[in-house]
Amino acid sequence: MLLTENAPPSLPAPDPAFRRDIIEGLSREPKATPPIWFYDQRGSELFEAITDLPEYYPTRTETALLERHGRDFAAAIGPGRAVVEFGAGSARKTPHLLRAIDPAAYVPVDISGDFLHASSAQLASAFPGLPVLPLVGDFNTDLALPTAIDGLPRLGFFPGSTIGNMEPHAAVNLLRAMRRLLGEGAMLLIGMDRIKDRGRLVAAYDDAAGVTAAFNLNLIRRINRELDGDLPLDGFVHRAVWNDDKARIEMHLEAVRPLHFHVAGQCFRMTEGETIHTESSHKYGPRDERLLLRAGDWEPVREWSDEEGLFSLVLAEA
Ligand code: AVJ
Repeated sequence: MLLTENAPPSLPAPDPAFRRDIIEGLSREPKATPPIWFYDQRGSELFEAITDLPEYYPTRTETALLERHGRDFAAAIGPGRAVVEFGAGSARKTPHLLRAIDPAAYVPVDISGDFLHASSAQLASAFPGLPVLPLVGDFNTDLALPTAIDGLPRLGFFPGSTIGNMEPHAAVNLLRAMRRLLGEGAMLLIGMDRIKDRGRLVAAYDDAAGVTAAFNLNLIRRINRELDGDLPLDGFVHRAVWNDDKARIEMHLEAVRPLHFHVAGQCFRMTEGETIHTESSHKYGPRDERLLLRAGDWEPVREWSDEEGLFSLVLAEA
């Protein structure tokens, strides 16, 4: 049962937050833009393609954990919760969890409205009788949960290691905001990507087929289209680098020659080799995961990982 509160607009309006973030990010030294803006329609499709790449282990590893440990989830989480999924996207992993725990409602939250409504409709038909209440919005800013789930105990579901996109202070703030949003008695099931061999990490963000490069470069197309930009597509190359001090993969768009371009009427310059830092993907060791959760007001209660220790799912309680 799909209950849509606000239908997506049919024409994409220029987003003032996008404009502000991009202008600010390009004015900064070094240049850096928030990764949420990757996910327009094309960006969301490219990310889906990334999750099928041989080099990109996180999605299939996490999905296998969700498939394998259904009985554990049922025992540790129990039935009757409202599952609130943050950054639901295509929500392909969700059926495994929903089947295992028999929830009372499902609230997928995502910034990409079209994508969210399509995947919600699919999920609703796979779970007849389950109220599906999609919420379009940025979970980094304040959200209001649908009143239809008032009084139900909540399970936050934050898969995909999306938390890794945040710097530690922002990650802690987000975990605390989730704690406040979900309330007393809530639980959180969160996916985190482990620190591992750097060759494996870099390959996951710089695949042979160039899909991740296309995903990164799609941001330039989006800026040009939505913010009246004239960035030359052939002026940038995709870079993925491991920052060992910060335990994170960084994606950059590197200028291959001196560049001069405009965005929303403003003029920008880049020197050859200068980059726009477009994403950080932080990786955590087992203790780092628990420390981060505790700093965010959540107490870890169970943890599941694959044999190779590539990825982990942590269950925590408020
Ligand atoms: C969706 C943020 C988890 O960091 O691995 C994949 C995004 N960027 N390849 C990640 C991403 C490049 C992804 N997250």
